[in-house]
Amino acid sequence: MTISLTPALDEALDQARQRYVDRRPVGARMHDEACEVMPGGNTRTVLHHAPFPLRAARGWANRIVDVDGWEYVDMLGEYTAGLYGHSNDAIRDAVRRALDDGLSLAAHNTYEARLARLLVDRFPALELVRFTNSGTEANLMAVSLARAATGRPAIAVAVGGYHGGLLYFGGGGSPVNAPFEAVLLDYNDPEASRAALRANADRLAAVLIEPVMGSAGCIRADPSYLTMLADEARAAGALLILDEVMTSRLGPHGAGAAYGVTPDLMTLGKYLGGGLTFGAFGGRRDLMGRFDPSRADALPHAGTFNNNVLTMAAGIAGLVEVLDDDALAALNARGDRLRMALQAVASPYGWCASGAGSMVGLHPVPGPVRSPRDLAGADDRLRELLFLDLLERGWYMARRGFIALSLEVGDDDVDGFVAVVADVLAERAEVVRAN
Ligand SMILES: Cc1ncc(COP(=O)(O)O)c(C=O)c1O
Repeated sequence: MTISLTPALDEALDQARQRYVDRRPVGARMHDEACEVMPGGNTRTVLHHAPFPLRAARGWANRIVDVDGWEYVDMLGEYTAGLYGHSNDAIRDAVRRALDDGLSLAAHNTYEARLARLLVDRFPALELVRFTNSGTEANLMAVSLARAATGRPAIAVAVGGYHGGLLYFGGGGSPVNAPFEAVLLDYNDPEASRAALRANADRLAAVLIEPVMGSAGCIRADPSYLTMLADEARAAGALLILDEVMTSRLGPHGAGAAYGVTPDLMTLGKYLGGGLTFGAFGGRRDLMGRFDPSRADALPHAGTFNNNVLTMAAGIAGLVEVLDDDALAALNARGDRLRMALQAVASPYGWCASGAGSMVGLHPVPGPVRSPRDLAGADDRLRELLFLDLLERGWYMARRGFIALSLEVGDDDVDGFVAVVADVLAERAEVVRAN
């Protein structure tokens, strides 16, 4: 694939960056101050972008306002964790009630088993579940459990897969990854993946995979690919771990259930904590039961805040009071409509839309995107230009072209977003064409 680049693209990008800087003097100053005490002024890498990152002052419903007073419609939905929006009443009330009963109790509390019950009833793969503070931790625990249970060292993961800050398998792998041996699979390539799994069968503790790759670009697995991974994992005596930190929102019982695949273990995170810090891992009783602390040979699983009352209360309120099956179905249908509309307006410029339900990717490649490799030729400057142009028009998505709808995003917002993307692409037609 070739991408036609003109010097005009660099010029357009320079101008867009300058406009961003000129309109955000407070954001610029606060970024400089942050840089004095934090590397790059940042404590969460994904939020960094040039010229300096957007700094939110506050948010409500589906809106955020930055420190310079610019208001945006939030189409990013906190990378799927913000499913309930920024100010859901039921969640705010539940957090207030929990606050009133006191923080940091250093004891089991009245919430944790209720949230666990809701999750076990919701996701068929979960016979037992444990909580963590993040999706990263959930995956580290699930992988570590698989290694302990099988006595084997390696995990199989997709090239480009993201399972947390210590489990990233793009760009040749991260130097700060947890030191697990990794067997790399080409997502949606059944022959090559099967061969890799069979070649490493006796070393494999687990296959760790997302049913729809989120951070890698919203890429859905072919159903037969996921089934093949499940079969091969089983044949190898390894566990299948479905990372549903993002995808559990794609159906009332998660994406794995929608695919008809029941993993040995699954991991959860994001919105299931009601918008507060959260992660969970769970699955087969015989595996998870090894964490039972009353057993003489119990595996340890620690975490001061694993059962923190604010997250537990918010998670329960979200599932009991807000997210019924109809609301979830409507959210995912709205996402499907958005994806189709974006594909229609972007394809004339050589762009494409990807994803499933309320998780949407918008890419400067013609598509279809079936694996992270299909995005290798994308010109990152095009992503940045679209991102900055959308910000100027009051719309916020991830710089990498990721959109996750919250329940607060309505049909009008979807229409408005599609119209503004169409406008930007038309206005920039000279420079944004990817082919
Ligand atoms: C699929 C997947 N797994 C794990 C994680 C890590 O979750 P957390 O950011 O809560 O550590 C993420 C975060 O984006 C994710 O998308």
